Amino acid sequence: MRTTVRQRIRRCQTARAVAIFFLLATTVKAEDGYRLWLRYDLLPQPAISSYRPHLASLVVPGSSATLVALRTELANGCARLLGATVPAAVGVDRDGAIVVGTPQSSSYINSLKWDRQLADLGPEGFRIRSLRLGNHSVTVIASQSEVGALYGAFYFLRLMQTLQPIASLNVRERPRLQLRMLDHWDNLDGSIERGYAGKSLWNWNGLPDRIDPRLRDYARANASIGINGSALNNVNANAQILTADYIRKVAAIAGVFRPYGIRVFLSARFSAPIDLGGLKTADPLDPDVAAWWKTKANEIYKAIPDFGGFLVKANSEGQPGPRTYGRTHLDGANMLAAAVAPHHGVVIWRAFVYDNKPGYDRAGAAYAELQPFDGKFAPNVLLQVKNGPIDFQPREPFHPLFGGMPKTQMMPEFQITQEYLGFSNHLVFLATMWREFLNSDTYAKGRGSTVTKVTNGSLDHQRITGMAGVANTGSDRNWTGHDFLQSNWYAFGRLAWNPDVDSRTIANEWIAMTLTHDRVTAATLARIMLESREAVVDYMTPLGLHHLFWGGHHYGPAPWWNTEPRNDWNPVYYHRANAEGIGFDRTATGSNTVSQYHQPVRDQFSNLNTCPENFLLWFHHVAWDHRMRSGRTLWDEIARHYQRGVDWVRATRRDWDALSDKIDPERHAAVAKKLTIQERDAIWWKDACLTYFQTFSKRPLPAGVEQPAKTLEEYKAKSLTW
Ligand code: GCU
Repeated sequence: MRTTVRQRIRRCQTARAVAIFFLLATTVKAEDGYRLWLRYDLLPQPAISSYRPHLASLVVPGSSATLVALRTELANGCARLLGATVPAAVGVDRDGAIVVGTPQSSSYINSLKWDRQLADLGPEGFRIRSLRLGNHSVTVIASQSEVGALYGAFYFLRLMQTLQPIASLNVRERPRLQLRMLDHWDNLDGSIERGYAGKSLWNWNGLPDRIDPRLRDYARANASIGINGSALNNVNANAQILTADYIRKVAAIAGVFRPYGIRVFLSARFSAPIDLGGLKTADPLDPDVAAWWKTKANEIYKAIPDFGGFLVKANSEGQPGPRTYGRTHLDGANMLAAAVAPHHGVVIWRAFVYDNKPGYDRAGAAYAELQPFDGKFAPNVLLQVKNGPIDFQPREPFHPLFGGMPKTQMMPEFQITQEYLGFSNHLVFLATMWREFLNSDTYAKGRGSTVTKVTNGSLDHQRITGMAGVANTGSDRNWTGHDFLQSNWYAFGRLAWNPDVDSRTIANEWIAMTLTHDRVTAATLARIMLESREAVVDYMTPLGLHHLFWGGHHYGPAPWWNTEPRNDWNPVYYHRANAEGIGFDRTATGSNTVSQYHQPVRDQFSNLNTCPENFLLWFHHVAWDHRMRSGRTLWDEIARHYQRGVDWVRATRRDWDALSDKIDPERHAAVAKKLTIQERDAIWWKDACLTYFQTFSKRPLPAGVEQPAKTLEEYKAKSLTW
């Protein structure tokens, strides 16, 4: 049969449409990790059937940017999870309506007279209740503020993403901390200090005119876990960020973040009055300097009325600061605090300071420097303190400033980016590390004075509370370089919202939202995640060892390193291995920084017999033949820990390989590739460290510990590459 031209054209068009359809289908299906935990993939049929009656319509009135974002998120999320559109409605005209908003935006919510209940939950808290409105059974998501309602909507979506019941809800949620911040160590040239997932997400060159749509997805992801602050630039700050040009760019970013409840903060270089203002000094007590900062703050707030404030790294690792002018950290922080106070801004002053003084131990430096100022900081200053006293090591005891400055507002700083934990190559779930820290008992006011209670303000009636995480995000398509490390961004947000959440809950949520609903697979993945941090401690720095890293990049091992200009940048300073034993004596016979802890923590750490073995070499120099609780000698125990770490990675590779039909091929292959690197690295860590320490211990490796593949000279000659 002859075909007409028209028929042929039509066929071509159909073929093209089919091709486009398949193209779109595959694009949508490409599992590149971009969608994070907000995938909203179709739920299993039984879940859809149980949710459907409760999702008959969306009643989300309002035209503000936040309410539009909320409506869009809920509509998209529900449609994709259920595989069917949930219509928007103006009124409640059927059972199963979802009513969302504030008493101001929704007359239905207003009619509930929940003002007091919502006020109890604070501006960002929310209620979700199944109830009857008129003749209809509905679900109400309500908050005092639109952003609170947005948090409620994300919470509701998460219930479905994690297959929780939604039929009779009675949820009351509020964030326990006020400032829930990501700190980006992003430079203005697009690079990221300690960033392992590509370039900066802020495209400074294109801003303020060209706004990357990805910024919105960044904001959505953060809002979905309650993060409400973003410090945009590196703490090793370039003063340029405070120029009029950059303030315009920052204002454009703030404009994208605002509907999602995220305020921007900037790292301020202390010498900016000289660098930009042409002043001769940046002395905080100089009236011209104080006036310069006030004017600068006014200029910023004019462009960004909800600007959060300044984050400051001063007199640390070469950064300028008040001490440059013979003043104190207190002088510096309070001067800046006065500049932002009229605008309700805060100053977040970092406690990462460690001046090299005679007889000094870096682990005690920040406490020695800052503790005497307790009670003297302005009311809008927070001290941002790393979780441990050295620097984001795989394991550190809690920083003694927690519980050590009861009259100072403290916020912990975590490092989500894995500077010391294998960059974005090693699968390490950090929630367990942060949980260990938050659970630590400072005994500041007797038993039960946990770091959580210091942080949430309940121990010392702290007014402004917060938590910061150094971001692991970048321009990589999957945001964090390794699909599993998205879970650390997620975990940080969940803990900043509620520092009491347990790690397993966080892991289970993330797995269900991101990877699979298959129970058996999910259980395997949760186990892997929960074990992973102990494994990295085993193969890098077991039993309280710390800072054994190759100088500069901090990727692989270099326990022999002794060439840095400062001795406290050298691994040999930290492990102190010699013929007798290994470890840093921080008890009264050594540096005595253990005295910075309250009793009975101090005694517990000081006593070789009561010191937890996972901190043993942090606090003690211990003989190679010391009997450990296992009955083994210290040397054998160290060696077995290294081997255990390696064995764990091998077993994890096998577990992961066995899941090849349970996880989509793209992400399965990507993670498998990373695990291969992790195994190579774990072996390298074990071999390099044991070969080196063996030159002091002079003991053989115990049975079951594999012989190193290379010689010490070979490990020293070439760093492990990433
Ligand atoms: C670590 C890190 C630096 C960073 C510093 C900080 O030392 O290696 O890159 O600047 O921490 O927290 O300020």
